[in-house]
Amino acid sequence: NIGAAAEEMHYKAYVVGGFVRDLLMEKDNYDIDIVIEGDGAKFAVNYAKKHNAKVFVHKKFKTAVVSFDDGFKIDFATARTEYYVTPAAAPEVVESSVKSDLFRRDFTINAMAVRLDGAQFGLLLDFFMGQKDILDKKIRVLHSLSFVDDPSRAYRAIRFAVRFGFEIGSHTDRLIKHAESLDLFSRIIGQRQFLELKYILAEDGYLFALQLMNKYNMLRFYSTKIKYDDELINKFKRSEHLLNWYKIQFEEDIEVWRMRFNILFFPEKGENFISLIDKFELSSKEASILKDDHKYMEYAVSLFKRYKDHKPSFIYGVCSNLSVESALALAAVMGESKQDIIKDYLTEYKNVKIDLSGQDLIEAGIPKGPEIKKALDVLLKAKLDGIVNTKEDELLFIKN
Ligand code: CTP
Repeated sequence: NIGAAAEEMHYKAYVVGGFVRDLLMEKDNYDIDIVIEGDGAKFAVNYAKKHNAKVFVHKKFKTAVVSFDDGFKIDFATARTEYYVTPAAAPEVVESSVKSDLFRRDFTINAMAVRLDGAQFGLLLDFFMGQKDILDKKIRVLHSLSFVDDPSRAYRAIRFAVRFGFEIGSHTDRLIKHAESLDLFSRIIGQRQFLELKYILAEDGYLFALQLMNKYNMLRFYSTKIKYDDELINKFKRSEHLLNWYKIQFEEDIEVWRMRFNILFFPEKGENFISLIDKFELSSKEASILKDDHKYMEYAVSLFKRYKDHKPSFIYGVCSNLSVESALALAAVMGESKQDIIKDYLTEYKNVKIDLSGQDLIEAGIPKGPEIKKALDVLLKAKLDGIVNTKEDELLFIKN
């Protein structure tokens, strides 16, 4: 029905990019990008009105997002030619045809469109041999300046290569090496740098992606402390076993990219890690999750090294601030010896609760205020170490 709406406005409408790629590869994709030859934002406003949907317009880029009540979203854009005034800068936008819109895109496999309006509904536009590259399993840029226009595409090339099991074409491979030698990747803004890494770490083939990033000497733009060697590979392999174990135990998904991020950046110490995260310019919430994960992992490693007596209450004290993602990362970086301890923490100690409430303690004669918290902590410790088991034990313990 986008086609019909376009006809009414005498516009041409196309679905483009990843959706078309995945359609041809018979893979699911629910991200729909529409390009309009005409005013895409105006089209989106009309379309949203007709379908009782919400619309958010980005005037400067002549784009809009239409969101439906069930959460489904469609992105609309005006066919455009972009002029990059300086490399890696935000592009200037002018109205144009779908062909030049496709030409400004990253890879041939992402630069195809399907017509949605009129008699030509369903027509595939493939000006740059995207279909051939899908068959040949190749990631290829459309022109030699692609990485100069947008250096973050090199990380995308790696991501698509590992996702689909494709090879990076030889010319594209040379262009990535050239971009690296010109230090172009250092111009990618922090947030984009972070996102590209996050997406890579969310891929099943992330380890191969890291190997490619290493080959292209691209890991250094994140941290010079990251060494892609057998030690790191072993840590990641351990983390995959731990992840499988966790999923079976708890039947719940975690943010796998976060676990992998924690492993990858663990060699960065304290202050250095903090300034590295600050460079990504993330929301304060995201930044503090990452910083906390790292801080509590470092804390745990140093305590496990310093003290040899690993009573349950000690393990609890060391691990209680860890998120699941950082606990699994910790188990992976500490090696086999600590894995069982952290598994015990996640399956048992983490969920230990005492039966007495604060009110019970007041009734038992503990004065209100900080004493209560202290008593609860002591009780929890005793319960973790098996000194008390029942509510009655707890009462007796506290009275003594
Ligand atoms: N694109 C581009 N250069 C970029 C980012 C995106 O040319 N640096 C284009 C590509 O044509 C891509 C489209 O914008 O297909 C949409 O981008 P995005 O949603 O990031 O990628 P998808 O290809 O949809 O990939 P994914 O399946 O990971 O969502």
